[in-house]
This record gives sequence, C-alpha cells and structure tokens, in this order.
Amino acid sequence: MRLLVTGGCGFIGSAFVHMAIDRGAEVVNLDKLTYAGDPANVADVADHPAYSFLHADIADAASVRDAVEGADAVVNFAAESHVDRSILDPAEFIRTDVLGTAVLLEAAREAGVDRFVQVSTDEVYGSITSGAFRETDPINPSSPYSASKAGGELQALAWHRTYGLDVVVTRGSNTFGPRQYPEKLIPLFVTNALDEIALPVYGDGMQVRDWIYVDDHCEGIWTAMADGEAGQIYNLGGGYEAPNIEITRRILDLTGRDEGLIKHVQDRPGHDRRYALDTTRLRALGWEPARDFPGALAETVRWYVARREWWEPIKSGEYRAYYERQYADRIADS
Ligand code: NAD
Ligand code: TYD
Repeated sequence: MRLLVTGGCGFIGSAFVHMAIDRGAEVVNLDKLTYAGDPANVADVADHPAYSFLHADIADAASVRDAVEGADAVVNFAAESHVDRSILDPAEFIRTDVLGTAVLLEAAREAGVDRFVQVSTDEVYGSITSGAFRETDPINPSSPYSASKAGGELQALAWHRTYGLDVVVTRGSNTFGPRQYPEKLIPLFVTNALDEIALPVYGDGMQVRDWIYVDDHCEGIWTAMADGEAGQIYNLGGGYEAPNIEITRRILDLTGRDEGLIKHVQDRPGHDRRYALDTTRLRALGWEPARDFPGALAETVRWYVARREWWEPIKSGEYRAYYERQYADRIADS
C-alpha cells in the first residue's frame, strides 16, 4: 500500500508515519516544515527504502499533484493546530486547514486515489455540558482553529458527495505523548515544571478534555482508513475525561515539583468548557484505546525528562516570541 501522509513531521503525523512503515506501507511524507514540523521526528525512518519526504505546502496544487501520483490513500494531518495561535493570528489556519485541504482533495480526485482520510478534531462540536457528542450531532466550533478544521472536513465530505471521492473523517480528542510541540497543555506544563517556571492555568482550570494517547489515536485513524465506510465520520476519543487542574497536579506529582508553580491566569477567549465523545461507531470496527491515562502520562513525562535535547532548542527562538505574546501579560496580571 502506498500512502501520502501530510504533516508527517508533526506530533501525531510522525507517530503515524512510524506505524505505517512498521506495517509495511510505502510512505510519502509531505510537510511544509512550519514551526511545528521537525524532520528529527522521523529521522529514524529517513533512510528506510519505503520512506520518502517532500518539502511542500498542501495548498500548493502543483506539488500536491506530483505527491499524490500513485498513492492508494491520502492521510491528511497537515494543519495549523494550536487554538491559542489561531486566536492571535487566524489567517494561516484558514489557508492551510480549509484551502489546503481543498487543494489536496482536488489532487486526490484527479489522481483517483482509493481513500482520503481527513484527520479532524472533536473541537468541531464545540462545548457540551453533559453527555457525549455523537457523529450525528451538529457542529458548532468556537475558535478560529476549530472553525477552520470544521471547514476542512466539510470540504472533504462535499468532495465525497459531489465527486464520489472515498472520504472518511476522524474526530480525535486531545492527544498527548512524545514529540508534542511544547505549546499544548501537557508538554508545556511538563517542560515548564522541569524548568521550575510557572504553569499558566487558564481561568479556574475546571475545563474538561477527553485525553487519548498518541498511539491509540493513530491506531484509530488506521482502523478508519482500513475499515471505515466512505462518507462516514468517526469519533476517536480515549475516554479519559479530566479537568485541566487534575492534569496539572498529576504533572507536578510526576515531575516532583511543588503546587506553588500553579498560576491561574486570564482565561482563553471563547474557551470550550467540556469535550466528550461517544466512540461507539469506531469501536464497532474493532478499535479501542489500549493505554490507560495515568500510565501513558507517566511514560510521556519520562520521555520529556530524558529528551531535553529535543525540547530545549524549541523553547528558544520563535517560541520565545510566541510565549511572550501569549503569556507575559497573563502571568504579570495574575
Ligand atoms: P502539529 O502542529 O504537531 O503538526 C502539524 C504538521 O503539519 C507539522 O509538521 C507542520 O509542519 C505541518 N504543516 C502545517 N501546515 C502545513 C501545510 N500548509 N502544508 C504541509 N504541511 C503543513 O499537529 P498535531 O498535533 O500532530 O496534529 C495533527 C493533526 O491532528 C491536525 O490536523 C490536528 O488538527 C489534528 N488533531 C490534533 C489533536 C491534538 O490533540 N494534537 C487532536 C485531534 C486532532
Ligand atoms: P490545548 O492543549 O491547547 O488543547 P485544546 O485547546 O485544543 O483543547 O489545551 C488543553 C486545555 O488546557 C484547554 O482547556 C486549555 C488549557 N490550557 C491552559 O489552561 N493553559 C495553557 O497554557 C494551555 C496551553 C492550555
């Protein structure tokens, strides 16, 4: 099987590239190498005969057309993926997550690929007070990020209905594990705790997320790719629901740091209070998460402890400017 994986130098995409190579697939990894993309994330497969890399933008039709040639399936991870950055600068989110997805869909249609997997997010539903979202529920995104992801998956589903392209959409929940860029909650708080600097908890910290380990997320995408029904959407959640403050305390415990590092700061605008997913549909295809949250979190923390050389260079340069913009006033005002 030949796969075109986009965004394979990012967090989840790189884990999926490893999984696909292990399973005997040929992989073309197309990645723009934004601030979030790092070839080091796939360095150990770089010389594998079944792997090739193309430095390109999913919104660039000519590059995408070449890359898709001969692929059996396209798995689209490429995206701007961080809510806080989308609030600061939404334009790039719309360009990559909506327009880029449409360019990729068109190239897949022209090349006649057998399957297009759009990796989407539970955030397209917006917030839910009780119960869990099902795939038939309406979408109601809150942030420029989630609205852009909703735009991308609507394009994908339209390419299915209008042109008959074989599309499946996965709506994954909050993912964690090794190689996650330290702007998202878990890697940010783990690395801040290790450096003994403040953990900026937005608002009261009682916002709830459904957490999934990265390999379980990839396994779910693989299941949807292999066995999903064309035109269908699959919720993909780990089922471990916790408020942010619980995650924060676990991280402090695992890193041996004091709760004095917790700083409650000004809340994120439009902050969704709770996400929760009903995953019956994907489970009916035989998928279920393999990892328990406390064990997987402990393993993840150990990875960041052992791999300072991975995250320390990231937390300088461009990251510093972003961190100042996002957090300096919040921390000063708290
Ligand atoms: P990430 O930010 O770590 O990686 C994104 C990758 O896409 C990077 O390698 C980047 O260089 C690449 N990229 C960005 N713009 C591109 C463009 N225009 N063309 C080609 N490549 C481009 O993201 P992630 O956390 O690995 O998320 C991967 C996908 O999964 C995204 O689509 C995201 O919306 C979705 N998702 C993420 C989570 C999560 O918790 N991280 C949860 C559910 C869904
Ligand atoms: P994040 O990892 O950005 O994922 P998402 O916004 O896509 O769910 O944030 C997870 C939760 O953690 C979310 O409720 C916002 C919160 N959060 C903080 O409280 N402080 C922070 O510095 C960050 C990055 C997130």
